[in-house]
Amino acid sequence: MKNILLGITGGIAAYKTPHLVRLFKKAGYEVRIIATKNALKLVSEHSLATVSGHPVRIDTFGNSGHGVDHIDIARWADVLVIAPATANIMAKASCGIADDMLSTVFLAVSCPVVMAPGMNDIMWQSSSVQANLAVLKSRGIMFIGPEPGELACNTSGMGRMSEPETIVQFVQNFPTRIEKLRGKRVLITAGATREYFDPARFWSNPSSGRMGNELARFAADSGAHVTICHGFMEVKPASLCEAIHAPDAASMYLEVSKRFRDFDVVVMAAAVSDWTFPNTAELKSKKDALPQELQLQMVRTKDILASISAENTDDGPIIIGFAAETASGNDLVTLARKKLERKGCDMIIANDITPGKSAFGNDNNHVIIVNSDGRPPSDFEGPKSTIVRDIWERICEYFD
Ligand code: CTP
Repeated sequence: MKNILLGITGGIAAYKTPHLVRLFKKAGYEVRIIATKNALKLVSEHSLATVSGHPVRIDTFGNSGHGVDHIDIARWADVLVIAPATANIMAKASCGIADDMLSTVFLAVSCPVVMAPGMNDIMWQSSSVQANLAVLKSRGIMFIGPEPGELACNTSGMGRMSEPETIVQFVQNFPTRIEKLRGKRVLITAGATREYFDPARFWSNPSSGRMGNELARFAADSGAHVTICHGFMEVKPASLCEAIHAPDAASMYLEVSKRFRDFDVVVMAAAVSDWTFPNTAELKSKKDALPQELQLQMVRTKDILASISAENTDDGPIIIGFAAETASGNDLVTLARKKLERKGCDMIIANDITPGKSAFGNDNNHVIIVNSDGRPPSDFEGPKSTIVRDIWERICEYFD
């Protein structure tokens, strides 16, 4: 991938685009620019032409001297990056309006498209923008940002265009994305459930949610439509995903069991509590009212993974579970195989959670993967953010 077609629309962050062009060129890309008329009120055509080394395309019928420039430039592009992407271009792109060079080329490209929105936070949250975002994502358009921070309108909130460095890095990571994930519907559970004894006390586990979140981020960056159903997480749900909060085992069971059939892949990365309290006290239980040696009575929760696997049909999703075990090597493989059988799912990704080596809350992980179709186990080790690619490659073998 070497040809970047940069579409610039009329958001204030347009002033950052000469820097963006420079960074793309420094990273070895060829850059051509299409700017809307409003963009050129915020950044000069001359600066853009100078840094890119090519004339800026503005009018559909104006630039190249022949009539099909919008098709030629669409064919030339290996990726179309629209930065900043205003509410207006998102709206036009989502309903196919082609009334200027950029919106016309958007319809004519067959390459990946990345949008980096930048706008006021209330505009970003508006139902129209969010609806257009959902439509564009469902068609495989990739989004980077917006990010929280200071906005040009003297407020701060979610709406800042991602920094040029972040956009360049996102595009540089492209070749490592997995094409087969584009357009796939993916449900991932992540984090730890908390079973409340009373409003001040709960039973839980050390899961940070990082593994599930990284799996979600990678799939979303690859163009999948990702829902992340999460308990407590130390990290924010990945920004390109729809997030559903399911704080305890019972609510996670409800959320997952009612929607798992709507997905192509379900990955159960959440650490779900196996026990819960039969009743949660509404008021805090005062220490003096409880015995010195407290014995807690708990009841088993539903096994979500086993239950959705049992209900799954041949045309249903591929279902993947995790296994947290205090074992390594062959013992871990044996336990993973037993769990695979017990849960009835398609794949188990097993971690060793022995103290000192535990994946819980750690940035690194070592996983062993076993499949129900008898493939030999595979194992991957490294930062969670990179082994997710290996895991997705294994999962994507089901789409061959
Ligand atoms: N899981 C689930 N529902 C539960 C408990 C676990 O869906 N009530 C899922 C987890 O999300 C994970 C898999 O089952 O994908 C295995 O979880 P793990 O904690 O390793 O195993 P358990 O089923 O709890 O069994 P054990 O504690 O005996 O190892």
